[in-house]
Amino acid sequence: MTERPAPPIALLAELTHRCPLSCSYCSNPLELTAREKELPTEIWVDVFQQAADLGVLQLHLSGGEPASRRDLETLVAIARDAGLYVNLITSGIGLSPSRLDALEAAGLDHVQLSLQATRAEKADWIGGYKGGFARKLAFADEVHRRGLPLTINAVMHRHTIDDIDAAIEFAASLGARRIEVACVQFYGWALANRSGLLPSRDQVLRAKEAVLAARRAYAGRMTIDFVPPDYYADYPKACMGGWGTTGINIAPDGTVLPCHAAATIPGLAFDRVTEKPLSAIWYDGSAFNAFRGHAWMKEPCRSCARRDKDHGGCRCQALALAADATAADPVCRHAPGRPVIDDILARETPFETDLIYRNGKIR
Ligand code: SF4
Ligand code: FES
Repeated sequence: MTERPAPPIALLAELTHRCPLSCSYCSNPLELTAREKELPTEIWVDVFQQAADLGVLQLHLSGGEPASRRDLETLVAIARDAGLYVNLITSGIGLSPSRLDALEAAGLDHVQLSLQATRAEKADWIGGYKGGFARKLAFADEVHRRGLPLTINAVMHRHTIDDIDAAIEFAASLGARRIEVACVQFYGWALANRSGLLPSRDQVLRAKEAVLAARRAYAGRMTIDFVPPDYYADYPKACMGGWGTTGINIAPDGTVLPCHAAATIPGLAFDRVTEKPLSAIWYDGSAFNAFRGHAWMKEPCRSCARRDKDHGGCRCQALALAADATAADPVCRHAPGRPVIDDILARETPFETDLIYRNGKIR
């Protein structure tokens, strides 16, 4: 029996899996939810109020591309009325100045804009969408002109990590207050494309140095967060800050998940917002309770001094790489599964291969 958890802080609402881009590192599942199965406006409205009542402070509206939903402006207004801080995670495509006016009027607090690359040709190749880069720039300009807080999310992988300086400079030129330079984590489409996306150790070392230098250069002007690829680390990340401790993800069809990849774990039963109150799902849902506390842990995690720091790492990564969601994350140097990662690093980093876009096309 585990202690009653604290309320969640954040809700990630995946409003839709529809998206004009088709990046090969997308964290959406390989089986995307069809438009007909998406939750209607009135259910999301009720969910946002339930989330606020439960204690959630921040709402992240995500996708796919959330602007693919025509009711996005309504959802932002309702969420703000419920007292939530609303962050929009977007590619910027599909948000005209008039839609941005409406979002601003609805009370949108913050925009997080993805950046595929800093040059049009490369960005459009990575996103699989010709003309996407130009539209993204126009959107960033409109966001900046309105004074809305902007974070750039620059996704790093083998094809972009050497341009890290340019990405940071570019974010500053767009008026961003923060840039998250995040190396691709291998879930969903990114896992399927790992051989083509995994950066080399040298690339990662150079990127770390570039970030240190940029932090000095931009101190006081722009915050620079760096998420390294965990395959090169000795210890795993505390995924989701610990399973069922801080955040809730809701998929477009209303399935409530402890993390975005949780549905890959066999044997877990997931509740839906159409069937149970969010509070009952958070406190009593079997999926949320599956990996809370320490009782589920095996050795070496169970008796490890770091177990409250990283919570044994990522359950979905343990499942994907060690075929056991209760195992230590194979990133950990003490994990029985660590040789799997060492083997991947030896085998896949010099490996150039085609990338599969999430629309099924191959490049
Ligand atoms: Fe974390 Fe488990 Fe490794 Fe300890 S043994 S560092 S708890 S993954
Ligand atoms: Fe599911 Fe890390 S992505 S626990």
